[in-house]
Amino acid sequence: MAEAVLGVIGGSGIYDLPGLEGAEWIGVESPWGDPSDAVRIGHIDGLKVVFLPRHGRGHVHSPSQINYRANIDVMKRCGVTDLISVSACGSLKEELAPGTFVLVEQFIDRTFAREKSFFGTGCVAHVSMAYPVSPRLVDHVEAAARAEDLKYRRGGTYLAMEGPQFSSLAESHLYRSWGCDVIGMTNMPEAKLAREAELCYATVAMVTDYDSWHPDHGEVDIQQIIKVLHDNAHHAQQLVARLARDLPREHETCPIGSDRALDYAIMTAPDK
Ligand code: ADE
Repeated sequence: MAEAVLGVIGGSGIYDLPGLEGAEWIGVESPWGDPSDAVRIGHIDGLKVVFLPRHGRGHVHSPSQINYRANIDVMKRCGVTDLISVSACGSLKEELAPGTFVLVEQFIDRTFAREKSFFGTGCVAHVSMAYPVSPRLVDHVEAAARAEDLKYRRGGTYLAMEGPQFSSLAESHLYRSWGCDVIGMTNMPEAKLAREAELCYATVAMVTDYDSWHPDHGEVDIQQIIKVLHDNAHHAQQLVARLARDLPREHETCPIGSDRALDYAIMTAPDK
């Protein structure tokens, strides 16, 4: 059995992970180009944890400019088996108020200006994305959220938009009419690339606003997002610390095969 290594990709407002023992920032090179930043590697109760700030320290990469392939590749090179994304998002549902953590189950990818695959030239592969998150990892995230008494909801569809501008009112209503629950700019193609890299992946989407649709809340603005992030950052840290303490130390086989996603996905002949 392989040792479990927890990867954490932190979104807006999450640029470090306090509580890592023996933590160091380490630059890791990738043939896919520059990742968003160095990774912070340390341990929590003996579990190796690898943290990467998705936008870089100081928030220097916009969603469309993030090198998602390099980020996922770096996580893989560091031995990560289980990867969680902790990201701000807008709410498309009345009941998902700011401060709620949504343990996302599905995605709709509306991004269009990003590299989305490690495959394509010389080697072609088509992995399944029917079930984009690993239910076993979500079980552990949910147990951690419950143990820390956080306001969370399991399940929900995340609409990934290109940005960097927020949605128009018409777009916000359209995504609501599609039954989406939350909206963000970064978890795709990250989830697709994690699957291609055979990582177990889960998204913890922290609601910071009601996007632009809510008649009583006005339109989303970045000051509002920063305030909610600031007020809830300790909850995100609590969640990750608890997850790291309780995650089994041996990587558990993924029931939906995220960790074997390439077994039947490669089309190119082996001698090519
Ligand atoms: N991140 C946080 N809030 C958001 C919103 N309303 N739309 C897109 N990304 C977001």
